[in-house]
Amino acid sequence: MKNWYKEISVYQIWPRSFKDSNGDGIGDLGGIIEKLDYIKSLNVDAIWFSPLYPSPNADYGYDIADYKNISPEYGTLEQFKVLIKEAHKRDLKIIMDLVVNHTSDECEWFKESKKGHDNPYHDYYFWRKGKGKKRPNNWISLFEGKAWKYNEDLDEYYLHVFSEGQPDLNWDNPKVREEVKSILRFWLDLGVDGFREDVITYISKAEGLPNGFPIPAACGMEHYSNGPHLHEYLMEMRKDVLDKYDCFVVGEAPMMTPKKAKKFITEGENQTLDMMFHFQHMEADCLFTDWVHMPFNLRKLKKVYSNWQKKLYKTAWNALYIENHDHPRIINRYGSLKYRVESGKMLAAMYILQSGTPFIYQGQEIGMTNITLDSFEQFKDVLTFNNYRMFKSLGLSDKTILKITNRASRENSRTPVQWTSEENGGFTTGTPWFSVNPNYTEINVEDADKDPDSILNFYRKLLKFRKENPIVIYGDYKEHNKCSSKIFVYERNYEGRRLLVVSSFTEKAVKFKAPKGFDLSSGELVLKNYDDETVVDNGFTLKPYETRVYLW
Ligand code: GLC
Ligand code: CA
Repeated sequence: MKNWYKEISVYQIWPRSFKDSNGDGIGDLGGIIEKLDYIKSLNVDAIWFSPLYPSPNADYGYDIADYKNISPEYGTLEQFKVLIKEAHKRDLKIIMDLVVNHTSDECEWFKESKKGHDNPYHDYYFWRKGKGKKRPNNWISLFEGKAWKYNEDLDEYYLHVFSEGQPDLNWDNPKVREEVKSILRFWLDLGVDGFREDVITYISKAEGLPNGFPIPAACGMEHYSNGPHLHEYLMEMRKDVLDKYDCFVVGEAPMMTPKKAKKFITEGENQTLDMMFHFQHMEADCLFTDWVHMPFNLRKLKKVYSNWQKKLYKTAWNALYIENHDHPRIINRYGSLKYRVESGKMLAAMYILQSGTPFIYQGQEIGMTNITLDSFEQFKDVLTFNNYRMFKSLGLSDKTILKITNRASRENSRTPVQWTSEENGGFTTGTPWFSVNPNYTEINVEDADKDPDSILNFYRKLLKFRKENPIVIYGDYKEHNKCSSKIFVYERNYEGRRLLVVSSFTEKAVKFKAPKGFDLSSGELVLKNYDDETVVDNGFTLKPYETRVYLW
């Protein structure tokens, strides 16, 4: 079925590091408004904002203290209304990040809930007595120690799957669900066009909060990921609120497989989400988490992509991304620093030309890369510190941990956007809240904009091509050269047209012959990252990280 949310491309802003307009070193709404024309120039159609709400920043905004307001660090609600208007004027939709698996511990609800067992907000959270001297169960937090924090006044513990500053909401309480609906309505009535729902698959916890399988990290996850009432609660949100608006919802879904996802995203009566962010394609160079490194494995990546493409075709819809605020930069991972420009373009074509709605993360469009920090004092993220303690307990040296952190930390994607070659990359006139990558002198928007061969201008071309060619949006998908560990080849078909996408993931030369039924000499080479268009014997030799896209 055709739908507007299938046809758009989305640009993700992580506000703190996007653009500072008042010199306090922190990105803000003023900075975003300044850059709306730039965003529009990428040929995207929507902006997803990582949280803009008031927050004590235990997890940089993913701990919300006030759901119906804008953080004073970023601006005011009035200013946000101007931003919505200005964005809509440019045909840019607005997508809010909805973080409702947990709140901040500074949220009024939590402050009330601490006041006593009889307080009407007490049951908004999971408060439990200890078992003797022990915690209520053995769950381990994903961000900070054990998953329970003791409160002396109440002589009870509260559950926090993420950091201590992020107490989990009790969705089994109907009042909590009413609060969430009220938040959804508030932003929809203000004019926003959709939501990205943070770790939404964690909201339903198993009854009785039983002990988890005793593993050293993420213990308990089987009792809150994809829990018993998840589908039911999402359906309630959809029926009571979302269905009444022309909006779309993408749910973040760790540990998701196509088979499980279909329960939520299969189009029709039972659908609760429009699409899901799964993580499987982000594991081609690691084991479940970026912190356990493995050599990059293209076959693993291709298998995941093809599985999602095939299983969802015609029945559900993919969300496509290769970067966001939770992962290191993709060129460092699946591409090459030596061939930064070539591999940056190749990766873009490789994922954006698949079937699904593409998301592009700030800085990705200019090929920003990881930063190397030389001491732990420079890091800012609660997860980095948690992992530091964990590696330390395993006996690793500071030097080794620093090396791992520089490669794996999600802070790599949180350095300020590099706008110009001036001081601080033009991000701020003050002192930036976090280190600017010193490579801003070479990698920045201003220079990329002027260079017709830049990654930036490739993204513009690519996103325009997607917009103008329904085959990219609605075509089918078939993979070729499956066994190759060096190249990724797939075709798309739609209403008599054909598209062939050929991408190399190596700096070695690779010989390629077009699949049966494709005549390269009659196809139009619509996108490429080298000037050479030579075709010999219906094939060609791929240069380092070369990509070619043919259209018939
Ligand atoms: C999601 C967010 C991440 C955050 C976590 C807890 O994974 O993308 O940034 O830390 O949820 O809210
Ligand atoms: Ca600012």
